[in-house]
Amino acid sequence: MSNYKRTLITSALPYANGPVHIGHLAGVYVPADIYARYLRMKGEEVAFIGGSDEHGVPITIKAKNEGVTPQDVVDKYHNIIKDSFSRFGISFDVYSRTSAKVHHDTASEFFKKLYDEGKFIEKTSEQYYDEEAKQFLADRYIVGTCPKCGNEKAYGDQCEACGTSLNATDLINPKSTLSGNIPVMKETKHWYLPLDQYEPWLREWILEGHKEWKSNVYGQCKSWIDGGLNPRAVTRDLDWGVPVPVDGADGKVLYVWFDAPIGYISATKEWTADWTKWWKDPETRMLHFIGKDNIVFHCIIFPAMLKAEGTYILPENVPANEFLNLEGDKISTSRNWAVWLHEYLEEFPGKEDVLKYVLTANAPETKDNDFTWKDFQARNNNELVAILGNFINRALVLTQKYYNGVVPAAGELQDVDKDTLAQIVSLKADVEKSLDTFRFREALKIAMDMARLGNKYLADMEPWKVVKTDEERVKTIMNTCLQIAANLTIVFAPFLPFTMNKLRGFLNMDHLEWSELGRTDILLAGHKVKEPELLFEKIEDSVIETQIQKLQDTKKANEMAAVTAAPQKENCSYDDFSKMDIRVGTIIEAEKVAKTKKLLKLKIDTGIDQRTVVSGIAEYYEPEQVIGQQVCILVNLEPRELKGILSQGMILMAADADGALKFVSPVNAVKNGSEVK
Ligand code: 2FM
Ligand code: ZN
Repeated sequence: MSNYKRTLITSALPYANGPVHIGHLAGVYVPADIYARYLRMKGEEVAFIGGSDEHGVPITIKAKNEGVTPQDVVDKYHNIIKDSFSRFGISFDVYSRTSAKVHHDTASEFFKKLYDEGKFIEKTSEQYYDEEAKQFLADRYIVGTCPKCGNEKAYGDQCEACGTSLNATDLINPKSTLSGNIPVMKETKHWYLPLDQYEPWLREWILEGHKEWKSNVYGQCKSWIDGGLNPRAVTRDLDWGVPVPVDGADGKVLYVWFDAPIGYISATKEWTADWTKWWKDPETRMLHFIGKDNIVFHCIIFPAMLKAEGTYILPENVPANEFLNLEGDKISTSRNWAVWLHEYLEEFPGKEDVLKYVLTANAPETKDNDFTWKDFQARNNNELVAILGNFINRALVLTQKYYNGVVPAAGELQDVDKDTLAQIVSLKADVEKSLDTFRFREALKIAMDMARLGNKYLADMEPWKVVKTDEERVKTIMNTCLQIAANLTIVFAPFLPFTMNKLRGFLNMDHLEWSELGRTDILLAGHKVKEPELLFEKIEDSVIETQIQKLQDTKKANEMAAVTAAPQKENCSYDDFSKMDIRVGTIIEAEKVAKTKKLLKLKIDTGIDQRTVVSGIAEYYEPEQVIGQQVCILVNLEPRELKGILSQGMILMAADADGALKFVSPVNAVKNGSEVK
C-alpha cells in the first residue's frame, strides 16, 4: 500500500514477569523506534504503541513462588520496564498495560462480539484437574517424566532438558505442582477460534497478497498454513486474566494470546479518543514489530480475530526479527543470562545510544546474531569514537581555531568538493531505501559511511597544511565539512537521538526534517557554532572485563544451582538410615598415598579407637592442612583394601558444583565419638 495517510506502529508487549534485556531492545523496540522517528522526521502521522503484557500463567507461578499476588508482580515489572524504555529514549506515544480497565473492557467487548455473532465453536474436553487445589491445571502447573528423554522434571508443555514440546497428557507420572498430588481428568468447556475456516482467506491474503514480507516471516506463515490450521482455544481455566464475559464461565479467563494483541487497541484508546481512525480507516497502515517467536500470533491468529470481528484493518507488514544471543548462548531470563537494561543504565550512564548503535549494527534481522562485550567495545571505539566522533570533533575544533566558530563562506568548489557533496546526496536515497524496507543495519551502515566520507575528505584535504598557503581554499574545505556535519545530525537522528541532540547543540541548529538531508547549504556563512565536547568516549578494557566477569559469575552460579537441583534419590526407610553409624572424629595424622594423585592416608581418632581411613581428597587438601580437622565418619562401613592399605570407614564430604570436596563437620567442636543422627 503506497497511498496511506498514517502509520500505526505496534511493538510486542513484553511480559511483565521480569525486566527487559538487550534481546528485547535489539529485536523489537530499537527497530520500531528508529522507524517511528524516521517517519516523524518525514512529517508523517505516526502512532507508536507499546505496553506490558500482564496476563498468562508464568506470572501466576512467579506470584505463587514469591508469596505475592499476580498484580504485585506486574506492578513491579511494569514500572521497571517502562522506566528502562523511557531512559533509552524509546519514543512510544503511549505505553500502557493489559491489567488496565480500558484493556479489560476492550478485550471483553471484542470477545463478546465474536461470541454473540457465533464466530467461536464451543468444545468440551478433558483436562488435568487438581482435586485438592480445586482447579484445572495449566500445562506449566504439571510436571512429570519426559517420554522422550526421561527427565523427571518436564513441564506439561515442554521438556526443558531435551527441548521437546509436549502435551500434559504425554507426561509419565504427572504431578500437580500446586499440591504435589496426581491430577485427575475432568471435563471443561472452552471457546475456540476455528482457524481452519480462515485458511483459504489467510492463504490468499498472506501467501498471494504479501509476498513482499521478509522471507523469515513469509516462510513461517507458509509452513503454518501448509501444515493445516486447527481450531484454537481462546479461553483458559485460570483465575488471572480477563474474565470470559459469558454466563457459566466462572473461573475462566481469555487466553493471554487472545487478549494481548487487543492490548494494542486498548493502548491506542488510552492515548486518544480518536482511536478509530487508527484502527478502522483503511488509509491507516499498521505495522507489527515483533520477535520471531510471535510470528504466528501476529500473522495468523490476530489477523483471523480482526477478520472475524470485521471492522478493523489488518497489518500491512510484520517485520519480525530473529533472536539475539549473548556471548554464544541463548538469552534466558530464568538462567539470568542477559544484559538487563536497568543494569546497563546504571553501569553505563549516558551511553544509551552506544548500546542502541551496537544492537542495530549487529541486529538479528535475517538470522540469529550474537552480542559480545568485545564487539560492543570495538564498535564504540572503532566506529563511534574513531569515525563519527573524530570527524565531528576535528571539524568543530578547526572551525573554532580558524574562524572563532563562525561558519566561513565557501569559495569556488573544486571537483573533489563537488564529488564529496554529490556522494552525500546519493547516500540519502540509499539510506531511505533501506529504512523503507526495514533493513536498519544496512541503513545505519550507510549513515556511518557518510561520516567515513567526511573523515576521509578531511584527511585528504589536510586543511591544517593548506592554511599556511591558501586561506581561501581552507574556507571552502571547512564549509564543506560543516555541511557534512549538519547532514549527519539528520541521518543519525533516528538511530542516535540523544547524541544528535547534543551535536545539534554544538552546531547551534534546530532539529531538521528528513527532507533537508542531502542539502549542502544547511549552515549559512556567518552562522556561529559552539565549542564542541566529545560526542563519544573510548571504553577501556577493564570496563569490558568487568562485564565478562559478571557473566562468568552467572555461569558459575547456574552450575552451582544445577548441583543443588540434582534429583532426589529414592526414599529409604528410617531403619535403613539408622543402620549407619556416623561419628565425629578428628584427623590426627595424614600422608599422601604413594603413586596416587587422589588418595590421602589418614589416622582418625573416632572416640572409639584410632583407625586408618583412605580418603580421595588429596586433590583438594594437603596432608598438613587437615591435621586437627574434625570430620564426620561412617565407622561401620565394611573395611576394604585400597592400594594395599586397609581403610576402616569413610569420611563424609560435600561435593561443590565443580566436584571440589569440602569437609562436613560440626559447626562447634564436639567430643570425638559423638553420634551423628
Ligand atoms: O512474547 C512475548 O513477550 C509476548 N508478551 C508478546 C505479546 S505481543 C502482543 F500480542 F501483545
Ligand atoms: Zn525430555
